[in-house]
Amino acid sequence: MKKIYITRKILDAGIKMLTDKGYEVDINPKDRPLTHKELVKALSKKPYDAVLTLLTDQVDAQVFDACPTAKIFANYAIGTNNIDVNEAKKRGVYVTNTPGGGADRVAEHAWALILALTCRVVESDEYMRRGKFNGWNPMIFHGMKLAGKMLGIIGTGRIGADVAHRAVNGFGMKLVYYDVKRNEELEKSFGAVFCPAVDEVLKNADVVSIHVPLLPTTQHLINAERLAMMKKSAYLINTSRGQVVDENALVSALKNGVIAGAGLDVFEFEPKLAKGLAKLSNVVMTPHIASGTLEARLEMATLSTTNIIQVMEGGVPQNNVV
Ligand code: GLV
Repeated sequence: MKKIYITRKILDAGIKMLTDKGYEVDINPKDRPLTHKELVKALSKKPYDAVLTLLTDQVDAQVFDACPTAKIFANYAIGTNNIDVNEAKKRGVYVTNTPGGGADRVAEHAWALILALTCRVVESDEYMRRGKFNGWNPMIFHGMKLAGKMLGIIGTGRIGADVAHRAVNGFGMKLVYYDVKRNEELEKSFGAVFCPAVDEVLKNADVVSIHVPLLPTTQHLINAERLAMMKKSAYLINTSRGQVVDENALVSALKNGVIAGAGLDVFEFEPKLAKGLAKLSNVVMTPHIASGTLEARLEMATLSTTNIIQVMEGGVPQNNVV
């Protein structure tokens, strides 16, 4: 009987796909991510054939060593930066992701952050709840109109392109973008203008939205020097990975009026926040929920278990990233 380990409870539909196949499924009973030590210990208990991991699990050589029988680590996430993919490759272990699971939803969430900031939704909601509204006032909560403004997209994969589509067709914005290679489709469909350097996007955009994977080359892609290149009136949105932005530098930029505001779903030191971030009124934060609809979670659950089943049945998983 195939043995599968799941590092944290996911929706039953995914688990059922595995038990319907007659596999033995063990799930971390704790309602929190396992520590690295706990993960190693859990995987050492049985000769597991497959492991379903979450983006909060750090999968490195020690974890692979703890589970030499596993043929696949199926990551329940779009990103795979939490897994040492080179180490998996060396060992002939598959690593898969859930690319369809929630990509369009992440784009919608990026828009929720853009609108929350430029319409000042969170600050004014708090104002209302505190009973401060004493009648219509032309002098309060001036936001920023989006039509005709420039959106800068950094990373134009599936999510970045979805954000672009909504910018042009939904809000009448213009587009500049940076990617490691030109995206002619984006240029053709949305009139996006390619910037061969990320700095050009930062200098020209009124809103900058980040959609790159976390790689050694994208870690702190947005640092103090680059924040200083942005317009003082501009907003930075990050729904990719926290480590792409130097969060301490961002706090200081937000405090000192280097940029107007930031919308963040991901954080460099998750679940901790950089010192001072939570005190700033020009930042809107959500707890890494950009892909968090029930539909997306269902798709992620069934996609990750489909990849496991494909490997257990002797095939190649459809979302292999190794
Ligand atoms: C979420 O951040 C994901 O990678 O799916």
